[in-house]
Amino acid sequence: MITISFIGTGHMGGSIATILSKLKDARLLLNNRHQEKAIKLASSIGDKAKAATLEEALNADYIFIGVKPSDMDSLIASFPFAPKGIIVSMAAGINLKDLEGKLPNNKIIRIMPNTPVIIGKGMTPYCFNNLSNKEEQDFISLLSITGKVKRIEEKDMDALSVLTGSAPAYLDYFLDALIKAGTKLGLSEEEIQDYVLTMAEGTIALDLASDKSPIELGKEVCSPGGSTIEGVMKMEEGGIYNMMEETVQASYQKNKKMK
Ligand SMILES: NC(=O)c1ccc[n+]([C@@H]2O[C@H](COP(=O)([O-])OP(=O)(O)OC[C@H]3O[C@@H](n4cnc5c(N)ncnc54)[C@H](OP(=O)(O)O)[C@@H]3O)[C@@H](O)[C@H]2O)c1
Repeated sequence: MITISFIGTGHMGGSIATILSKLKDARLLLNNRHQEKAIKLASSIGDKAKAATLEEALNADYIFIGVKPSDMDSLIASFPFAPKGIIVSMAAGINLKDLEGKLPNNKIIRIMPNTPVIIGKGMTPYCFNNLSNKEEQDFISLLSITGKVKRIEEKDMDALSVLTGSAPAYLDYFLDALIKAGTKLGLSEEEIQDYVLTMAEGTIALDLASDKSPIELGKEVCSPGGSTIEGVMKMEEGGIYNMMEETVQASYQKNKKMK
């Protein structure tokens, strides 16, 4: 039986805890600043999880830290003793060197999960300081239930934090804009949502299954002189590429400032 604790059971910590609870041999210990949140999550997960004190959480085999980057220093300063297990940090912008400085006796893994982890469809890049090969393989087996996991070089973490961690929000805002535009054509928002989400799921499944790139597949929808290309030209005129570049840069620069 492996013990996995979560310190900080908000959106992301709670999502990863929920999916890891499906592992056969895992027991979860949940700790949160306002402990009612951890108690509520434990009761929604069931027998596999229990709300835990900070001391109990620090004795786990893996200790996932799910607090905001700005709360990291004060959290670590409050530890009554050095954590026993492997630390897993999901904090944007806080690098391994910073964490090592604060937790010099621990093995540390840095991950950048995204919201689809809760349904096992996440994309989680990771890097670490000094894991053995076996420890890395064990970690991959543990986290694979959340979706794809991929080892990266830490220098790429800020960029990937944007493209995998933040980008689900960009995509959802795009879908919302599409749905809202659709309501101007006389359909109800509720009705359009089902069509649009199924279209998006199918489009991405095709993108993943195909040897062609998204833009090659996108161009295939645009018959010359047809209605799709008419809309696509409007997107280009409106500066969609510039807007996405600025969006990505804004999140990236913010990540860099968090260090
Ligand atoms: N959300 C995402 O999509 C996403 C993606 C990738 C990475 N991340 C990373 O995940 C981390 C959490 O983000 P989030 O969106 O899940 O934020 P969140 O919902 O605000 O969760 C943070 C949690 O940490 C708890 N907390 C704060 N200080 C604590 C302490 N000293 N001891 C125990 N618990 C404490 C908070 O408790 P209270 O509510 O009681 O204050 C809250 O439940 C961040 O570092 C972020 O960079 C998030």
